[in-house]
Amino acid sequence: MYRYDEFDAAFVNQRVAQFRSQVERRVSGELTEDEFKPLRLMNGLYLQLHAYMLRVAIPYGSLDSRQLHRLADVATKYDRGYAHFTTRQNVQYNWPSLSDTPDILQDLAEVDMHAIQTSGNCIRNVTTDHFAGAAHDEVADPRVYAEIIRQWSSLHPEFSFLPRKFKIAINGAKQDRAAIRVHDIGLQLVQLTDGGVGFDVYVGGGQGRTPMIAKLVAEGVAEQDILSYLEAVLRVYNLYGRRDNKYKARIKILVHETGLEQLKADIEAEYAHVKSTFLDIPKEEIERIDAYFAMPKLRDASAGVAKLAETRARDAGFSQWVSQNTHGHKVSDHVSVTVSLKPVGGVPGDATAEQMHLVADLASQYGYDEVRVSHAQNLVLPHVAKEDLYAIYQALVTVDLAEANVGLVTDIIACPGLDYCALANARSIPVAQDISERLGAIERQKQIGDLKLNISGCINACGHHHVGHIGILGVDRKGEELYQITLGGSSDENTSIGAILGRGFPAAELTDAIEAVIDTYIGLRLSDDERFIDAYRRVGPKPFKEALYPSDQKAA
Ligand code: HEM
Ligand code: SF4
Repeated sequence: MYRYDEFDAAFVNQRVAQFRSQVERRVSGELTEDEFKPLRLMNGLYLQLHAYMLRVAIPYGSLDSRQLHRLADVATKYDRGYAHFTTRQNVQYNWPSLSDTPDILQDLAEVDMHAIQTSGNCIRNVTTDHFAGAAHDEVADPRVYAEIIRQWSSLHPEFSFLPRKFKIAINGAKQDRAAIRVHDIGLQLVQLTDGGVGFDVYVGGGQGRTPMIAKLVAEGVAEQDILSYLEAVLRVYNLYGRRDNKYKARIKILVHETGLEQLKADIEAEYAHVKSTFLDIPKEEIERIDAYFAMPKLRDASAGVAKLAETRARDAGFSQWVSQNTHGHKVSDHVSVTVSLKPVGGVPGDATAEQMHLVADLASQYGYDEVRVSHAQNLVLPHVAKEDLYAIYQALVTVDLAEANVGLVTDIIACPGLDYCALANARSIPVAQDISERLGAIERQKQIGDLKLNISGCINACGHHHVGHIGILGVDRKGEELYQITLGGSSDENTSIGAILGRGFPAAELTDAIEAVIDTYIGLRLSDDERFIDAYRRVGPKPFKEALYPSDQKAA
């Protein structure tokens, strides 16, 4: 795993000291909230509905056990004993007191963690595949480039005040697990014909009130050129992106308004200029960083593989968990394990300090000291010997983290909604809990199969509802909390934006409506293997509209 050097450590500590003095001046009244706002946003501190919220960066979603233990300690010492893992592979504390925040950041700095680039109009924390470095379908490890981009962007003077926040995601595998096409820039690692690796570059994706799928602007940009290319895209955006209207300031609007061909020409012109300067990444530098991300030396665990089959035959719950929560590894006697933070009826993405400590212990005992955070708000142990799975499962059961539901209907992504967020129209968390309880029986979940259900409390779409196979969006109709349902979204290599099915439902009717959508799907699928999204793409919205709005159909 990457280790911060003296420069990084000094920079992080300096930031804490600077922030401490800013907080002191705010507490003493020397700074007004308006003056304090841009300063706190440089350090991940938001003001939510009831309290401040601190968003801590987990660069490319990678943690070691020491860091996860520390996140748990912070939850106990300064918050209410839990933390919330987010869709951008970050972690949030919902209840810190303002005067504690410098101490929290100091505690985090001791383990190389911080809240830089988690808010404000800068290049945000780069996200990537949670199975990076372990997945069997990987072209190259995306974390290497995510780290290079972090180093390039953190103190980049040109890009500290962009027209709007800027999100970059990198995917290194054939399957897109980083949702790159709904990011401002999405990078897909590809094998080049000369044997090297490079990037296909997608620009202008995003969710929010104007969801857009990113457009391919360049293919096969060589790895040593990628910073030059990014620099060119960012410069064009910084120059031409709209600053007059916050809702039109993201790069997706620039792509839309400029047109793809003109934008490509602008980027190419800038790229030619930048490339003639000094931004090539030296081969030795790529190799140096690559070495930090080398696969840990895995032990030979082939002898234990047969034992796993025996244990699975004895314990059906365990067997279901192995089927659902493990993912193929580069080395055949190992797997990646997803620890679901979606217990049936729980708050998606929340983990208590006790749970975090336990996962950290499992990582150090069985997982070569690595943990990842996934964009679906789960935790991952990327390298686990198959023979250790049963011990891990049994330990997870003791803290209610052994839900065998990864990729199933209760593996819900949800934003904080009206329980925490000042922008919300409606609650997200109780809605997620209600659906999860209704559909949570494991036989029912297995019957439904692969399904992504995402919930946002307003059109800002932090809960990714646009790209849920089923999306739920909280809307406000004359003071009433209503929920619209969208169908057909997806954030993988076949990204699509879901379409609104019809008028919204009050909370009391929503779970029935979702169940009606699901039963309609089960009734029309060609076989048990036809996933919801594939069935929807085949038949379109009509049967679902008929199920949810029968009287409209008669009138039509
Ligand atoms: C203090 C609470 C929050 C506020 C005020 C907030 C605000 C916003 C706003 C205004 C947008 C729309 C930005 C745009 O399109 O220009 C947005 C988008 C987004 N937020 Fe949040 N958010 C909050 C919490 C969260 C949380 C907890 C998560 C992760 C679970 C999250 C992840 C995202 C994502 C993934 C997007 C859409 C991606 C995109 O930028 O297009 N946000 N947020
Ligand atoms: S989607 Fe809306 S309600 Fe949910 S966290 Fe984002 S801004 Fe808040």
